[in-house]
Amino acid sequence: MSQVAARPMIDMFREEMALCEVKKGVKVAVLSEGGQLQDYAAASVSAARDLGGTVEHVHLPAAAGGVSASERIANIGQNSLSKHHEAMKTCKGADLVVDHMLLLFSREQIEMQKAGARVILVVEPLEILRRLFPTPDQRRRVEAAEKMLQGSKRLRFTNDAGTDVTYELGDVPVLTEYGYTSTPGRWDHWPGGFLATLAKPGGVNGKVVMKPGDIIYPMMRFVEKGIEFTVRNGRVVEVKGGKDADDLEAFIATYDDPRAYAISHIGWGLNERCQWRVDLPGIGMDGRAYYGNVLFSLGPDTEFGGANDTACHLDLPMKGCDLYLDDEMIVRKGELVPEELRAVRAA
Ligand code: FE2
Repeated sequence: MSQVAARPMIDMFREEMALCEVKKGVKVAVLSEGGQLQDYAAASVSAARDLGGTVEHVHLPAAAGGVSASERIANIGQNSLSKHHEAMKTCKGADLVVDHMLLLFSREQIEMQKAGARVILVVEPLEILRRLFPTPDQRRRVEAAEKMLQGSKRLRFTNDAGTDVTYELGDVPVLTEYGYTSTPGRWDHWPGGFLATLAKPGGVNGKVVMKPGDIIYPMMRFVEKGIEFTVRNGRVVEVKGGKDADDLEAFIATYDDPRAYAISHIGWGLNERCQWRVDLPGIGMDGRAYYGNVLFSLGPDTEFGGANDTACHLDLPMKGCDLYLDDEMIVRKGELVPEELRAVRAA
């Protein structure tokens, strides 16, 4: 069933497991499905055992039709765990679940978290896991940003193309990704490096103007000339901008779901090793966590406990923006301003 993983990969997985505080006495469930990522599952099992953890590989039969990471992202919440009570029991009883299945905010994942298991999602290509390997410094900076965002009433961002939009913030929790987790019940995603939250219901108003070179996920493409979104009471009410806008609206139309026009999460990136490219393998962590981006998003909000579970999920990283929390400037033209958020970068 399991493949033998190459040593350098196990070493890297061991470092990740060490950040997740796997050691003697820690129960680890490594979760995988069918033939997917069996080399990752083998590396996770070896790495966690090396560190002294008590490890179980929870391997589910392949889902009907086979489901790749990108298909799973498009169908968040659908998985076969609900049919496997023993597997669920093992995961709920674990201290750490290593998710190679992509449970991403399914009911089953939330149940595991409520039972106290921390969950680390590991599905990105090896090249991405390696280049963007998380660090305690990334955690420190993401947590400093979390404090700022949590304590704010209003988030506003602008750019020189005419963006000026305001999010009224309420009590919605802030979702952080710093790439590992050692906190009971907390989820994270290797490699990570950003944070996000939601506005109060209906609490987003203004205009968002994406510039040439901004990114459209999951379409994996750059904006060519510009797209202008008019936002009223938490919804996009108009999209303008020639071919870019036409293509985007055609993409949204394939879902036949007006909830795709709801404004979703907002936040910014802090991972200084990310590259502004759309041709890298994986789901696009580089653009999403890119240092100093603003990550604007439309569609579902179930990650934050909301009820919008539309399958049309657009993540729209924008470069060179200014972002303010209340009246404090956090990002200036794509550079982080507060000292505690800034990464030490090679000149
Ligand atoms: Fe998103």
